[in-house]
Amino acid sequence: MVLASLSVLLLVCAATAEFNIVRHVSHAPRSLEPAVIPEAQFVVPITSTAPRRKSKKSNLESLRAFAAPNNTAVLEGADFDQEYLTEVTVGGQTFTAIVDTGSSDTWLINKDFKCFNLTGFPESTETCGFGSAGFDTNASSTFQSFPKVSFNISYGDGEFLSGGLGFDTVSVGGLTVTQQEIGVPDLAAWNGDGVNSGLIGLAYSGLTSAFNTTDPTKASSKNHIPYDPFFFTAVKQGAVSNPFFSLALNRGALVVNATEDLNLGFIAFGGMPPVDLDKTAVTVPVQGYSASTGEPSSTDAVFFYYTVDVDAYTFPGSTKVATSNNNTILDSGTTLNLVPTKVAKAYNAQFVPKATLDRDSGLYFVDCNATVPAFSVTLGGKVFPIDARDQILDAGTDDDGNTVCITGTQDGGADTPDNVFILGDVFLHNVVSTFNIQTNELTVTRRKKY
Ligand SMILES: *[C@@H]1O[C@H](CO)[C@@H](O)[C@H](O)[C@H]1NC(C)=O
Ligand SMILES: *[C@@H]1O[C@H](CO)[C@@H](O)[C@H](O)[C@H]1NC(C)=O
Ligand SMILES: *[C@@H]1O[C@H](CO)[C@@H](O)[C@H](O)[C@H]1NC(C)=O
Ligand SMILES: *[C@@H]1O[C@H](CO)[C@@H](O)[C@H](O)[C@H]1NC(C)=O
Ligand SMILES: *[C@@H]1O[C@H](CO)[C@@H](O)[C@H](O)[C@H]1NC(C)=O
Ligand SMILES: *[C@@H]1O[C@H](CO)[C@@H](O)[C@H](O)[C@H]1NC(C)=O
Ligand SMILES: *[C@@H]1O[C@H](CO)[C@@H](O)[C@H](O)[C@H]1NC(C)=O
Ligand SMILES: *[C@@H]1O[C@H](CO)[C@@H](O)[C@H](O)[C@H]1NC(C)=O
Repeated sequence: MVLASLSVLLLVCAATAEFNIVRHVSHAPRSLEPAVIPEAQFVVPITSTAPRRKSKKSNLESLRAFAAPNNTAVLEGADFDQEYLTEVTVGGQTFTAIVDTGSSDTWLINKDFKCFNLTGFPESTETCGFGSAGFDTNASSTFQSFPKVSFNISYGDGEFLSGGLGFDTVSVGGLTVTQQEIGVPDLAAWNGDGVNSGLIGLAYSGLTSAFNTTDPTKASSKNHIPYDPFFFTAVKQGAVSNPFFSLALNRGALVVNATEDLNLGFIAFGGMPPVDLDKTAVTVPVQGYSASTGEPSSTDAVFFYYTVDVDAYTFPGSTKVATSNNNTILDSGTTLNLVPTKVAKAYNAQFVPKATLDRDSGLYFVDCNATVPAFSVTLGGKVFPIDARDQILDAGTDDDGNTVCITGTQDGGADTPDNVFILGDVFLHNVVSTFNIQTNELTVTRRKKY
């Protein structure tokens, strides 16, 4: 059982160090006024979104399958998910890249890449669907290759990226780091969106994908060589004066195919983004996982995602349900909230008319004009309400051409201690989340209504 779980997790983490999921609680939450966090030094507007790539779905699916093997159907909801895109300059070349708090590598597709289908047969480069010709390492005067190592990300659905690594100057929103380790894969089996050419991962080094082998097929946890992701390098190089970055994701229009919405929010390095804040804020520990044999430990905790404990979900009738749950990831790459089954069931029953569970998709569908019951999330003793506008999402049309809607808060599986839940954009639209990579704390600040 443990072995099986580990192998799934290794897939998720692209072969990171072996470990067991044991949560480690480091310190008590504390409240904090937003004024304590200064304005950011560097602000990056999010310029567009693209449908979430299959590999990311697969990645989360594996993570959730690891934690709750019988509860993966709900991930159908991921079909509505969007990636957030911004501009990144590497070695003087500018690309559109995904910004992701759920992974850690910075990678750009190599200009010399070869495209394959999911079973490894060569395809035209167009088939892989990258948004540009790719990164030309020869044209960068600052690029240095990293010989004898390889980059390898393989996903459960068959997508993969592999190839070499190097170091180069990377700049995002004016924040520039030198000699950032980057992946420059030249083999790809990829279902791209035709927009982005790479990714900037903002999670921890445990999720990076460099391996000490010249043969990418030999990548394993034994030769994993974790490296500092972009923001970690920025802090080490003193390129940013504070060790935290913030995310403000704006509520866009309820349009499934919206690709250009110039007011999608901000990533802010070193402080707060330029959005109106309310007074309520709280700082809670990011939860780590024990690195060794399953013993809880405060010294060898490994951080992967931005995982927090949820004290409670509050909605009409919520006092009848146990709503506290641990192991909840704040993920900018997931649209919906995925909460424990009992919470989802009780909450969705409060819509007027009631939301109904569709067995095939595992999703709660609701009348697009339904009355939305109040819903809030308590973190570190502070209450963060979710706007009613985030709780009904356009889910396309049915066979008769009528618009159908789903609710924003869906079933994430049974509330077992090891299940993994998600607070996605539905929640994130209502707060600014500030990730401190030095104290391993997360500050959540309420936004003013917008
Ligand atoms: C998953 O379902 C199977 C078959 O119903 C059951 O045997 C197994 O115990 C379940 N696993 C978990 C973790 O609930
Ligand atoms: C990949 O291409 C080969 C050769 O055309 C084909 O047999 C195979 O089914 C394709 N695989 C997928 C997943 O499309
Ligand atoms: C970069 O230079 C190498 C060695 O000269 C060459 O093999 C490769 O094709 C060049 N790449 C590009 C994208 O021009
Ligand atoms: C890779 O492994 C070799 C042999 O163990 C070692 O000498 C080398 O320093 C390692 N390289 C890196 C980048 O860790
Ligand atoms: C990546 O590494 C895994 C082993 O961890 C291997 O099975 C896979 O083939 C590798 N992918 C590529 C594209 O080399
Ligand atoms: C969204 O785009 C897809 C692919 O371009 C298209 O098939 C679909 O009809 C569009 N949906 C709407 C609601 O416009
Ligand atoms: C969450 O973790 C805390 C601290 O370890 C524990 O006291 C609490 O019971 C856990 N809650 C759930 C629902 O597992
Ligand atoms: C929702 O309300 C609008 C106007 O208020 C109406 O045009 C639309 O048909 C309603 N939709 C449904 C599904 O009842």
